[in-house]
Amino acid sequence: MTSATVEPVTFDPYDYGFHEDPYPTYHRLRTEAPLYHNPELGFWALSRHSDVLAAFRDSNRLSSANGVSLDPAAWGPHAHRVMSFLAMDDPRHMRMRKLVFKGFTPKRVAEMEVRIREITLEHLEPALTRGSFDWIDEVAGKLPMDVISELMGVPEPDRAEIRRLADLVVHREEGVLDVPADAIDASIRLFGYYTDMVAQRRVARADDLTSALLDAEIEGDTLTDEEIIGFLFLMVVAGNETTTKLLGNALYWAGANPAEYAKVVAEPELVSDWVEETLRYDTSSQIVARTAAVDLDYHGGTIPAGAKVLLLIGSANRDPAAFDDGDSYIIDRSSSSSLASFGAGVHFCLGAHLARLEATIVLREFASRVSAFDVDADGISRVHSTNVRGFAKLPITVEVS
Ligand code: HEM
Repeated sequence: MTSATVEPVTFDPYDYGFHEDPYPTYHRLRTEAPLYHNPELGFWALSRHSDVLAAFRDSNRLSSANGVSLDPAAWGPHAHRVMSFLAMDDPRHMRMRKLVFKGFTPKRVAEMEVRIREITLEHLEPALTRGSFDWIDEVAGKLPMDVISELMGVPEPDRAEIRRLADLVVHREEGVLDVPADAIDASIRLFGYYTDMVAQRRVARADDLTSALLDAEIEGDTLTDEEIIGFLFLMVVAGNETTTKLLGNALYWAGANPAEYAKVVAEPELVSDWVEETLRYDTSSQIVARTAAVDLDYHGGTIPAGAKVLLLIGSANRDPAAFDDGDSYIIDRSSSSSLASFGAGVHFCLGAHLARLEATIVLREFASRVSAFDVDADGISRVHSTNVRGFAKLPITVEVS
């Protein structure tokens, strides 16, 4: 009689096979190793929905101050500025977040709706006229940065160059996980641009987020120019690529599930559900890191103080304990469980409202014009990252209704 030996689960966030389809690994982690340790790569990982959300909310014991990605941030001379308050603990974090929130209000975001639609159509309509085009190059890769620039008050003529710099900041060649020299150079130039913009608004305010941040005040406390510049840069790092990849993943999975896409075409009010289901099923920000501030006990094991802990957002969102039939893409599913996609607790994504609004507008405009579409499977390519999940290329052919 032969007995099959089951290898223990291994999880390597750098592995290209894992990037192709991380979900079988997540499944095994949740069931076989809910507290996972990888001594070679030097991290621990939590994969269950309840553990991931509880860890996000436990910011006293799980610190963000050493950075929130697996790789140490190699941003050259600007390392300390890039992540702004995303990589701070309270009370420093909360002071800055509250001040930023005075300027980056839900009202300011809601007022963007008309402009987001106009910017969407500027990119979408010429692409649809051609019939076949790359969704990332033509629409998803352009819109989020243009919207961020509009919000900040970057003048129109400068936006294409700002988008080019922002793309260089986050762009990685296949297989290169270190921050390349041109990304560091682009980040220095972007900082230079925002530094000049903040200096100009100091002299003459305008109706934009940059001016609102200069005026933000709580009991006499205000943001310094350096803090405002850092936050503007954080918006580029946290809000640009994540939204681009969300838009790409939405089209990819709707293309792979035409009956689901047909539901949205028939019932346009389902577009926001399409956004939510994509955020759940294949979110663009998959893995966020913390550092254990004290020894932490989970599932019979102990994460030692000082260790790196990965919170597997993509896994939490597929956990059957929270989502029935979690491995199926069902746009009109109803679920009362919280998504892990925007984090939770004190660092909950400040741009979640903007990301949802933007994605809903773009996908609504798309679905109202396109009755069906095909993804060219041979032309797609993925980004390879330990955090961001999505496509670098996503060619599609549309049938315009
Ligand atoms: C934080 C995801 C879009 C700004 C976060 C966090 C996640 C996340 C998971 C928590 C990080 C942590 O706890 O360490 C996403 C996803 C997006 C998106 C999936 C799009 C689909 C945006 C946009 C903006 C933005 C559009 C702004 C323009 C921020 C900021 C934080 C943050 C400022 C830090 C909040 C804090 O530390 O208090 N985001 N985000 N995000 N996000 Fe987003």
